[in-house]
Amino acid sequence: MLNTAEILDQLANRRKNFSLSRDLYCDEGVFHADLENLWYREWLFAIPSCDIPKTGNHATLQIGEYPVVIVRGADGQIRAFHNVCRHRGQRLCPKQNGTSPKLVCPYHQWTYDLDGKLLFARDMGPDFDPSKFSLKPVHCRTEGGMVFICLADDPPDFEQLGGFLRDYVGASDLSNAKVAFTSTIVEKGNWKLVIENNRECYHCGGSHPSLCRTYSDNPLMTVMEGPNAASPEILSHWNRCDKAGLPARFVNEPGMQWRFARVPLLNNAESFTMSTKAAVNRRMGTIPWNDAGSLMFYHFPSSWNHFLPDHAIVFRLLPISPTETEVTSKWLVHKDAVEGVDYDLQKLTEVWLATNDEDRRVVEENQKGILSPAYEPGPYSPNQEEGVIHFVDWYVRQMMDRLSPRPAMAAE
Ligand code: FES
Ligand SMILES: [Fe+2]
Repeated sequence: MLNTAEILDQLANRRKNFSLSRDLYCDEGVFHADLENLWYREWLFAIPSCDIPKTGNHATLQIGEYPVVIVRGADGQIRAFHNVCRHRGQRLCPKQNGTSPKLVCPYHQWTYDLDGKLLFARDMGPDFDPSKFSLKPVHCRTEGGMVFICLADDPPDFEQLGGFLRDYVGASDLSNAKVAFTSTIVEKGNWKLVIENNRECYHCGGSHPSLCRTYSDNPLMTVMEGPNAASPEILSHWNRCDKAGLPARFVNEPGMQWRFARVPLLNNAESFTMSTKAAVNRRMGTIPWNDAGSLMFYHFPSSWNHFLPDHAIVFRLLPISPTETEVTSKWLVHKDAVEGVDYDLQKLTEVWLATNDEDRRVVEENQKGILSPAYEPGPYSPNQEEGVIHFVDWYVRQMMDRLSPRPAMAAE
């Protein structure tokens, strides 16, 4: 297990534009450093707000060692708390999703209001002050119908990202959406391999027969390379969207931590379906046409998403161990769309269920190869894997910045 100095050494000596060292993908010490320095410090996409549409709905997730619960309050506000009872530490809400008018600990029934206040604790004596035992809050922001949380005491800025979420994702009006289907899988691979796999389509032709019916594997068509690499087709799509007031142009965080861009699908396809036609016969939000393509939004380290005219798919990954990652996908449709009438669940979900499984296999085989002592870092394709280079550069920069020893404060 590597110590901090050894991790820093591997980060500093990594070969630019090559995959990372075996240890950076497999080592237990690196995994803990990733948790401490990225997962416990960055904003993380948690759920779409329509996952908990009503007062008392809650959703849970596990970020490394931290169980978290996200709750819709009586005032409609979404809040996040450490999912740990203030009595003797029981995990308060054990299920992935639940509903209750109050949060009641299953151990000794301490009862919390939906805003985290302790309302009731039986037989705790006359000196007990419940106001000192509220649930511990976790920073939580909801913009564009996407709920982000941050475990840090002092979270990074959210305003710039929040503004683009409002504009770009706002066009899909997730407040009037519902979750049609959720899939959770565990991929036996390091979380960085899961993201790397997502950030390129060099593998798509060989792995994703159903996705490739509608999604181009040409990086120029999916603007993986950056805002200046757009093809004439993309530029004309953006001009058309501009005229309709639909945010579409490539925008990104300067360090490439996140990016939004709306791209057309192949051959005027409408959705990620086998037929290439819309899966749901009513559009979401204010998207004006069936062939408006996909708004792609990724955010390191935890999410990538597609917002299509007829549905959206939000993806969240969470690290479990050095070689295991949970991937949760949710398919969102207009809240008034009726299953069996307005959409067929199988047709809605089959392309990305297959794609997720294909990616899982790729990632697991990638992890198995990297576990070999014979593995050595290999070069990324400059035009096919620019998105991977962005991710790895972001990762190395953030980790080096946070792991590097700080100069001692000058004495007054
Ligand atoms: S641990 Fe929750 S009520 Fe006792
Ligand atoms: Fe893939």
